Amino acid sequence: MSKQDDLKRAAAEAAFDYVREGEYLGVGTGSTVNHFIDVLAERAPEIPGCVSSSKATTEKLRAAGFDVVDLNSAGALGVYVDGADEANAHLELIKGGGGALTREKIIAGAARTFVCMVDASKRVDLLGRFPLPVEVIEMARSSVARSLVKLGGEPELRPGFVSDNGHPILDVHNLEILNPIEMEDAINALPGVVTVGLFARRPADVLIVGDAGGVETVK
Ligand code: 5RP
Repeated sequence: MSKQDDLKRAAAEAAFDYVREGEYLGVGTGSTVNHFIDVLAERAPEIPGCVSSSKATTEKLRAAGFDVVDLNSAGALGVYVDGADEANAHLELIKGGGGALTREKIIAGAARTFVCMVDASKRVDLLGRFPLPVEVIEMARSSVARSLVKLGGEPELRPGFVSDNGHPILDVHNLEILNPIEMEDAINALPGVVTVGLFARRPADVLIVGDAGGVETVK
């Protein structure tokens, strides 16, 4: 495992403390989440099942022996565990590097507690160094791209990519995100936007940071 993988694994182990036996668990997408699923498989908590944010996560959870149910059947969701591409001091996030931002935002919004795991390289003062993913309806991708340019960004169509929902993603480079909530609202308001990967209106409740010196938990 690479050094960064070790940090992701350490964060995933710490996130396990938030799993509540007897409750459905929301599970995100990405390499950090894959470590978390490995931890779940090893420790086998007594949970009725999981709500998954992507086809890839569903496959990995099922292979590990966990039942995966639709969010509609899970009732009120307790804990959602996911990774992120960037996190600031207010636990506002950029997500969607893996393209699962829409289902991730739905599950984060439905969960009582959103636990986010990152390695230390993802902590930033200002969000936006990581290109901001925006999932769009195909027919709107050019018009949304022009509006994103007006907001100061440089959108780029993610090549050869279609989300689990059947939509393309624009990755927006060099966007100055001074006010993440305002930017999230402005991009959400563009006709044809499915989801913007800014998680500011619903930030994480707990940020678990894997660092060389150990794991830090920020609330
Ligand atoms: C997927 C995501 C991921 O959480 C994010 O891209 C981080 O991925 P990784 O854990 O592989 O670094 O938002 O849509």
